[in-house]
Amino acid sequence: MEQRIEELIAHMTLEEKAAQMVQVPYNQVTREEALEWAKKGAGSFLHVLGDEARELQAAAVKSRLGVPVLFGIDAIHGHGLNDHATIFPSQLALACSWDLELCTEMGHVTAREVATDGLHWTFSPVLCLARDLRWGRVDETFGEDAVLSGELGAAVIKGYQGDDLSAPDSILACAKHYIGYGEAVGARDACDTEITFRKLKDIFVIPFRKAVEAGCATVMTAYGSVDGTPFTISRKAMKELLREELGFQGFVVTDWDNVASLVTKQYVCENLAEASKKSAEAGNDMIMTTTAFFEEVIRLVRDGKLKEKVIDDAVRHILTVKLRMGLFEQPEKKGIPGCIGCEEHLETAKEAARESIVLLKNNGILPLRNRKRIAVIGPNADDIKAQYGDWTYFTHPNFHEKKIPVRPYVTVLEGIRRIAEVEDTEISYIKGCGVLSERDDAVEQAVALAKECDTIVFVPGDNVALHGEFHDRANLELSGKQEELYLALRKTGIPLVTLLVTSKPLCIPKEAESDALVIAFNGGMFGGQAAAEVLFGRYNPCGRLPVSFPYHSGQLPVYYNCLPGWHGGKYVDFPAEPLFSFGEGLSYTKFHYENLRFSADSLLAEIDLTNAGDRTGSEVVQVYFRDVVSSVMTPVKKLIAFRRVTLAPGETRTIGFQLRREDFALVDEQERTVTEPGEFILMVGHSSKTEDLIQTGFYLNDQSDKSDL
Ligand code: GLC
Repeated sequence: MEQRIEELIAHMTLEEKAAQMVQVPYNQVTREEALEWAKKGAGSFLHVLGDEARELQAAAVKSRLGVPVLFGIDAIHGHGLNDHATIFPSQLALACSWDLELCTEMGHVTAREVATDGLHWTFSPVLCLARDLRWGRVDETFGEDAVLSGELGAAVIKGYQGDDLSAPDSILACAKHYIGYGEAVGARDACDTEITFRKLKDIFVIPFRKAVEAGCATVMTAYGSVDGTPFTISRKAMKELLREELGFQGFVVTDWDNVASLVTKQYVCENLAEASKKSAEAGNDMIMTTTAFFEEVIRLVRDGKLKEKVIDDAVRHILTVKLRMGLFEQPEKKGIPGCIGCEEHLETAKEAARESIVLLKNNGILPLRNRKRIAVIGPNADDIKAQYGDWTYFTHPNFHEKKIPVRPYVTVLEGIRRIAEVEDTEISYIKGCGVLSERDDAVEQAVALAKECDTIVFVPGDNVALHGEFHDRANLELSGKQEELYLALRKTGIPLVTLLVTSKPLCIPKEAESDALVIAFNGGMFGGQAAAEVLFGRYNPCGRLPVSFPYHSGQLPVYYNCLPGWHGGKYVDFPAEPLFSFGEGLSYTKFHYENLRFSADSLLAEIDLTNAGDRTGSEVVQVYFRDVVSSVMTPVKKLIAFRRVTLAPGETRTIGFQLRREDFALVDEQERTVTEPGEFILMVGHSSKTEDLIQTGFYLNDQSDKSDL
């Protein structure tokens, strides 16, 4: 393969090499211009589907050297930009499952559907961490924890890429946005992150390391900057860390127009020529949408201002991936004809939606039984657009945002109606108000309707007007008249269940006083069905929060694995802890933990878990640790391992975790990753809350011999 690539590079003109680095935005050029680019030997196109993609590939393979193009698309919770495809829960919703196999299955189904559209590559998974929830893109992440995000991300990558990139239903994954993009000051999307390089290596690189270990074929450089240096030109991040330390072998693509942003947004380059030079030298192999890069980089090389070797290195990275995909033999992905939206795929989406539901409070009202008349009230009870969330064909600006789906989706109202029919329960519905205040808000009518019923299911939340790229929020309280509606319904004294259909945690301390509180992050096609099945007990909820719920935006960031040392230990006007913590989630059964044993020799941890309830249920056993004394400050607790377990009523099982010394590592002041000897505490249990954890102390010594505390 190496020889074939070197020969190809030796034959390519400077123009053809420069074109190979360009990714053309199909929705920003005319069809003729796109065909011109294909003939010139463009490396890739994005946001083009089906026949239009096939036409471009046909033109590309007829170009002088016939190097096929790569088609990339944002299939980030299913092939969402195709209105016949299977729409999965968002990453944040999927993360509530803590289920690696499910994540791999979601990746595989998505790969099959994307490939069947003739496409090669998805810009997914997102490995950013959601630590400041004001950020608009929290729904795209796996939550606040680096280890959980890395494990789930690696599982999705395996699903996308399979064992052989040349397989008809394998596509390239893309670990994004490298690196620390969600950490912008004030959660202002794409602003500076002020992360030290030590912290970058201690926290933010963990998911990317797991992605590289999983063989992720591409990485996307983030908007924004690390301590004042735009990620796009951070040689330290791109060369030393990504290439040398992590050993990344694939190719790097910039995010949207990052090269031009160096001039127009970040003001670190005078002009496109300088931006193109610095971007290429920093190690960006493919340039997303800044097509002017083509002329600039040719001129730079011709004027002797940029070594042609830099271009050759970038082209080599790209061609290596194209060859590994078998693209020259098979330019177009075949996929599995007829699989898009097939029954088998829909079943996987249903299971994903069920495992994504999180029950946070239940005074016994759930599961709903023998209810005569239920009032379903709230803006997100029957809004499929709010339920889908971002990056689907009718929320994404480049596709059919006007199209209403014809696919078999199920909203909360529809899901409740289907079960109520069987339960001989009457359902009344009124929206009551909008997510944003609307002229026809109907709080009074909603209260009047509720008074005729014996149960209220209140369904508030947010929608794509309030989240997504360019949609950060400073105030995460329920928007519009939703809180007013809640308080009026609460005042009726009628038993009330709040089901939050939302892209991310919102500040709902009052709504959390409902008789029950269920969280349904964007659940995809069957989010409503899954929520209804939980409400009526058809499904025993097993979701666990991958992210904290603050009382108030002013608490942010409020992630669980914070560093100690708070003078006073709490706000004077709010608790230090979040309203709901990382790892929390109830079920309709009870789990007991006993007999934690841990050998500091073998680093094997074991615990006995019992399902003490009367129905089968799933539990996510979580393992945390604390480094009691360390050379730099380390978190009060940090997730180190987890396992999802399903037990029958009364069943007890010993759950074992084989840990490794490097799991207890930190990054010290010299930016070295080390496991320092000394005292540690291991904690195992149901959530990150101290009261949910059993702990045991131990020593890690320099040598192999260790003694239990
Ligand atoms: C967007 C996003 C990125 C996406 C890319 C292509 O601006 O930042 O996540 O993959 O552009 O759509």
